Amino acid sequence: MNHCVVGLQWGDEGKGKVVDILAEHSDVVVRYGGGANAGHTVVVGDTRFALHLLPSGSVRPKAICVIANGVVVDPEVLGTEIDTLAQKGISLDGRLFISENAHVVLDYHKREDQLSEESLGKNKLGTTVRGIGPCYADKVGRSHALRMGDLGNLEELKTKLQTIVEYKNKLFAALYNAEPMSADAIFEKCESYAGRFLPYVTDTTEFLHKSIAEGKSILFEGAQGSLLDLDHGTFPFVTSSNSSALGMPAGCGVPAKWVDKFIGVVKAYTTRVGAGPFPVEQDNDIGRYIRDKGNEYGTTTGRPRRCGWFDAVAVSYSVTIGAIDSVALLHLDTLSGLKELKICRAYNINGQEKTFFPANTARLAQASPVYQTLPGWDQDISEVRDFQDLPVNARDYVCRIEELIDRPVTIIGVGPKRAQTIFRH
Ligand code: GDP
Ligand code: IMO
Ligand code: MG
Repeated sequence: MNHCVVGLQWGDEGKGKVVDILAEHSDVVVRYGGGANAGHTVVVGDTRFALHLLPSGSVRPKAICVIANGVVVDPEVLGTEIDTLAQKGISLDGRLFISENAHVVLDYHKREDQLSEESLGKNKLGTTVRGIGPCYADKVGRSHALRMGDLGNLEELKTKLQTIVEYKNKLFAALYNAEPMSADAIFEKCESYAGRFLPYVTDTTEFLHKSIAEGKSILFEGAQGSLLDLDHGTFPFVTSSNSSALGMPAGCGVPAKWVDKFIGVVKAYTTRVGAGPFPVEQDNDIGRYIRDKGNEYGTTTGRPRRCGWFDAVAVSYSVTIGAIDSVALLHLDTLSGLKELKICRAYNINGQEKTFFPANTARLAQASPVYQTLPGWDQDISEVRDFQDLPVNARDYVCRIEELIDRPVTIIGVGPKRAQTIFRH
């Protein structure tokens, strides 16, 4: 069986935990999009791993890990991540494969991300400042792009870098009055990246198709969330890749047809980091309760996450565009203790009820949520392992979500640890 795990909200749904669980029965785990803007948390026993570029399956010592062509690789972050795992006794030797076509995030991308955000002031997008947008822009623009495979020809790379850095310096000076960057310093870093990472660089498309032909079980790990998708999300408050399920085939060269099941991940409520419309946001005591109880602070940037009620309109949209088969609903434990819970079942836009999510930001800004209110529960549910043992109000809450999104909830999270999981169906 091949599975693809994808976020159905604005990221941070708990994909890391779900991938880690499914990786137990997978041979190969593949990251196919985004870059070090992602922060995927896996908790094994008392050890917490925060993964940015390596697939979350990497903490399973036997899993083969692939970083496919759709990922933008920051070699500095990757190196740190590999070292951190090694310190915890987990080696990637012989089981990491990086696409030669994956683009490289370099210092000038991170600098441009920062300069651009600063220059926008209150209109900034609230990016993670990891150089993601500028790197994907170079990929699409082609003339100033570098890929992991380019590390294999340092002489050519040196010449290319001179041209690129000269171009970037002119641009940054003109637009932001910024100090020039040194092409030589960046080249020196690339030399060390080549020494360290070339042994892992290969044609991952060929590798994945061979693995499929051999009957291996592949797990594809989405980053970000469907509503941050460059084409189908809440543009311009999105990331720079196709982070919905639609991005999976292009991001790794494997057609969606070879995926047996697309598993969507949601929280039992909604969060969002960075700017952009968020109809169900609770900028009040409810939002603060969820943030404190759910520890809703960014894994990558530490920023407090904006919190709100579960939005069935938004999730149904992600389910539809992603042909999602089943859903993992995490953080149900975080809602314990709230007297009543609300689920957004429709939007009111100019006096009309709509249930199809308007990804258009201007229309979304006019949407006011139409809520259904359900009773909450008081009990601590973090030790529950069987659906029938949940308080009846918690079961009803899950079942109402299933009805509204028209998909079964097959995995329920009641805490960050592996064992704090309920399996259904
Ligand atoms: P990802 O980016 O989708 O992998 O999600 P993050 O790792 O950024 O954020 C999810 C956070 O919720 C992490 O701190 C997880 O350890 C934690 N988490 C995951 N599932 C659950 C759950 O069911 N309950 C609670 N309380 N925490 C969870
Ligand atoms: P995971 O994989 C939550 C958000 C940023 C910002 C917007 C653009 O952990 O779910 P970018 O740096 O990509 O140009 O920022 O996208 N964003 C995320 N939000 N989780 C993520 O990843 C995110 N990756 C990007 O906060 O609003
Ligand atoms: Mg995250």
